[in-house]
Amino acid sequence: MAQEDVFKKLVSHCKEYGFVFPSSEIYDGLAAVYDYGQMGVELKNNIKRYWWDSMTLLNDNIVGIDSAVFMHPTIWKASGHVDAFNDPLIDNRDSKKRYRADVLIEDAIAKIEEKIDKEVEKARKRFGENFDEKMYRETNPRVLEYTQKRDALHERFAAAMSEMNLEELRQIIIDQEIVCPISGTKNWTDVRQFNLMFSTDMGSTADGAMKVYLRPETAQGIFVNFLNVQKTGRMRIPFGIAQIGKAFRNEIVARQFIFRMREFEQMEMQFFVRPGEEMTWFNHWKEFRLRWHKALGLGDHKYRYHDHEKLAHYANAATDIEFEMPFGFKEVEGIHSRTDFDLSQHEKFSGKKIQYFDPELNKSYTPYVIETSIGVDRMFLSVLAAAYKEEVLENGETRVVLQLPAALAPIKVAVMPLVRKDGLPEKANEIINSLKFDYRCQYDEKDSIGKRYRRQDAIGTPFCITVDHQTLEDNTVTLRERDSMEQHRVSISELHALIGEKVSFRTLLQKIVNE
Ligand code: GAP
Repeated sequence: MAQEDVFKKLVSHCKEYGFVFPSSEIYDGLAAVYDYGQMGVELKNNIKRYWWDSMTLLNDNIVGIDSAVFMHPTIWKASGHVDAFNDPLIDNRDSKKRYRADVLIEDAIAKIEEKIDKEVEKARKRFGENFDEKMYRETNPRVLEYTQKRDALHERFAAAMSEMNLEELRQIIIDQEIVCPISGTKNWTDVRQFNLMFSTDMGSTADGAMKVYLRPETAQGIFVNFLNVQKTGRMRIPFGIAQIGKAFRNEIVARQFIFRMREFEQMEMQFFVRPGEEMTWFNHWKEFRLRWHKALGLGDHKYRYHDHEKLAHYANAATDIEFEMPFGFKEVEGIHSRTDFDLSQHEKFSGKKIQYFDPELNKSYTPYVIETSIGVDRMFLSVLAAAYKEEVLENGETRVVLQLPAALAPIKVAVMPLVRKDGLPEKANEIINSLKFDYRCQYDEKDSIGKRYRRQDAIGTPFCITVDHQTLEDNTVTLRERDSMEQHRVSISELHALIGEKVSFRTLLQKIVNE
């Protein structure tokens, strides 16, 4: 099945089974804003717990905070967001639609890449087993022509972006003859800068309201609390502060479902280190974060690093962890070495000294920072995309199964009486009452057992327990495992341990440490 179709199916599966709903749906929705349903919120909470525990339990020098969404507006001046958190926008005069100029050009580059891939695929079919892809890419005249065109365009685009040369961005769009997907015309306006921060007014207008921003990242809440946490927690460098919270960006190109949203959630950790030691810690966090991803078992080949060649003015190293989404490898997490930029800026703008006295070195300095920043929603999408499977069974039937990492699954155990009588429902509820303190359980007595299994497969429940007449005699049940669909007769007294071994966060966290 084409990846595009897989993605469409995933989106409708999310809606059908209560994972993700479009926001304000009965009012026709609100673009790039989504609500998490009864299953989605559990999966999301489990992702957050996995991240939080990996930071604050596995690292005794990392503590958490929960700072406010609203912050003093000068914070965003100091951080550079007021002046530089912009996207270059262009309008089509005929359709009146607005686009990100950089995305239009990126799409044009992607189209050339598609042409190259098509040529390569055609040749692969023609030459069969003897096909040497590398040689073909290096020698075929048509592929070479496309490759040169792509590289030249990419170079011109990268230069225009690094200088934020808006005229040049427009000229590239004109020269490439890029048309508006709606009107089909090339009737473009100039390119303008558009700030991505949402703002609102705080306080009564009579007193003079203050313009405040909805935070576009959670990181600044950590920086401005650096001294509070360091002093009250008696933290010694190196140490980290972790935070999970909402962030808001007025994204113009909002597409690919929950990949790019206007309201989303971030899990960020700022790790404060001695100046000069930042590269050691950058490499440490780069490696730790990839282990965190891989421990989920979604497939090691689905991840790759993308090291940034062009760095933001405050960074001296940066890399993305990309995940293979149905629409290609995309950034899920960023790891940045942010130097002392943020703390120094807040010192400058607040007029308060923000330094750390290092007792070992017997001197004060502004700490350097390594940041790990991951979007909860993007992580959610990557987990679901990897977990979604359509399988043809031995009897020819198909099943849709979410092969979620067991610790992240919304429901851990479904308990099903074979029939709705003879005391089986009561026995099933007895089992739920013994498990529910540790595992989220669901009771299901409707339809055939086969249909009930399919329903649980579709929401990724790792275990189903069937209670039958034999259970009443010998206190055993059938335990059915989601992925293998194997069934075993086990004693009720064994259930707690058997389930725990598979679904506990402990198993997952141990993998990070032991890998
Ligand atoms: N404090 C650094 C920072 O915010 P970023 O690369 O802009 O860096 C970090 O964002 C992560 O937040 C991204 O890797 C992505 O997972 C997530 N993210 C950013 N913008 C997003 C959006 N509009 N919708 C969903 N997730 C987003």
